[in-house]
Amino acid sequence: MTKKTLHAIQSPIEGNLTVPGDKSISHRSIIFGSLSKGRTVVSNFLDGEDCLRTIDAFRAMGVSIQKNGAHVIIDSKGVNGFVEPKQPIDLGNSGTTARLLLGVLAGLPFHVTLFGDDSLTNRPMDRVVRPLRQMGAKIDGRENGKYLPISIRGGALESISFIPPVKSAQVKSAVLLAGLFGDSNTTVIESTKTRDHTENMLQAFGGEINVDQTTITIPANQSLEGTTIDVPGDISSAAFFLVAAAIVPNSKLTINDVGLNHTRTGIIDVLKKMGASIEVKEERHIGGEIIGSITIESSKLNGIEIDGDLIPRMIDEIPIVALLATQANGKTVIRDAEELRYKESDRIQSVVDTLQGLGATIQATEDGMIIDGDTSLSGGVGNSYGDHRIGMMIAIASLITKEDTQLIDPECINISYPSFFSDLANIQQK
Ligand code: S3P
Repeated sequence: MTKKTLHAIQSPIEGNLTVPGDKSISHRSIIFGSLSKGRTVVSNFLDGEDCLRTIDAFRAMGVSIQKNGAHVIIDSKGVNGFVEPKQPIDLGNSGTTARLLLGVLAGLPFHVTLFGDDSLTNRPMDRVVRPLRQMGAKIDGRENGKYLPISIRGGALESISFIPPVKSAQVKSAVLLAGLFGDSNTTVIESTKTRDHTENMLQAFGGEINVDQTTITIPANQSLEGTTIDVPGDISSAAFFLVAAAIVPNSKLTINDVGLNHTRTGIIDVLKKMGASIEVKEERHIGGEIIGSITIESSKLNGIEIDGDLIPRMIDEIPIVALLATQANGKTVIRDAEELRYKESDRIQSVVDTLQGLGATIQATEDGMIIDGDTSLSGGVGNSYGDHRIGMMIAIASLITKEDTQLIDPECINISYPSFFSDLANIQQK
């Protein structure tokens, strides 16, 4: 296992930054670009390992996808031009590829086997397997299809009305994608609105979808046309630097061209509620997404309660919010976040273990954590547990630790943010 020494420099964060393209939107640009007829041109695509898995999966079905850094060109004849993949498809660490791809494969007359790395092999797939079986897809896999490896044989599907048992954009998206191959309208009724990039992007490709608050209806058999997608900066990546600027004294940072879709901006609400000095400017709308800038300065912070509908709007930001809470005065309680146990690691356990190891006062609960602040962090050893968001959280923590920190397995950060350390270096005052 490799290690990286993170030196305790404690220099302020300053300047302007753009972060790489949004991971969720990048995955969907490949999926919809492949399902559509004609050419799709994607700019600011996230050149991270997860999104490359989605590209490889559609290439395996015969779609022409050329990638040059963050610029991607997809030439597709639409689903009728797809071919059955000859080999099992390796999904690496990517839960989004696994769940959304299953939704597409449910409607295709192919036999396909999917597998992933150790982390993905232990993440639940039954949440998508159940509704897709209900629609008529033939799926088998380890523990009756609960886990990868999974084999699927798709075909003509029956449309359903589905209430997801978990708050998950991946589950919603898998059923909506399968709905394109249904026999009438497919409806997903969410208990809480989750990120809506699938709904937005379908429309950008000329598709039809009806969204009535948390009820989403998609007609079957649509003809989608290739288009141009400009991927906004990923607010989930920006969140690490927003927190850095909030907690490192004398910092001021502006992040430009970042996605501000309201289903993703829970981190901004949390920072505001804690008393951060933050200004958000919504600047333009592209393909149903909002893009703008965020400016933040370090300030005194207070502990808060985080729960309910806010959780899906910041689910990937909870590791970095836990670090933020160690620097806020008083108690922060995070509830209703049991979904964290099913991410790239059990993020309740990995966040709590990591921050305790660095000297924070934090304890795990069944569905979240309780953090007492503010505490000064000592440094030491930080294990990423192979989870990119834990790795980046440790790197940001090291900006305020008294001693150096050894980050174990830093490579996992390439999953969502390959240029993380160089972007960080660019905003650290020399
Ligand atoms: C994602 C949805 C979320 C999120 C993941 C990306 C997506 O997962 O954690 O990083 O692109 O739809 P869940 O749907 O499992 O909550």
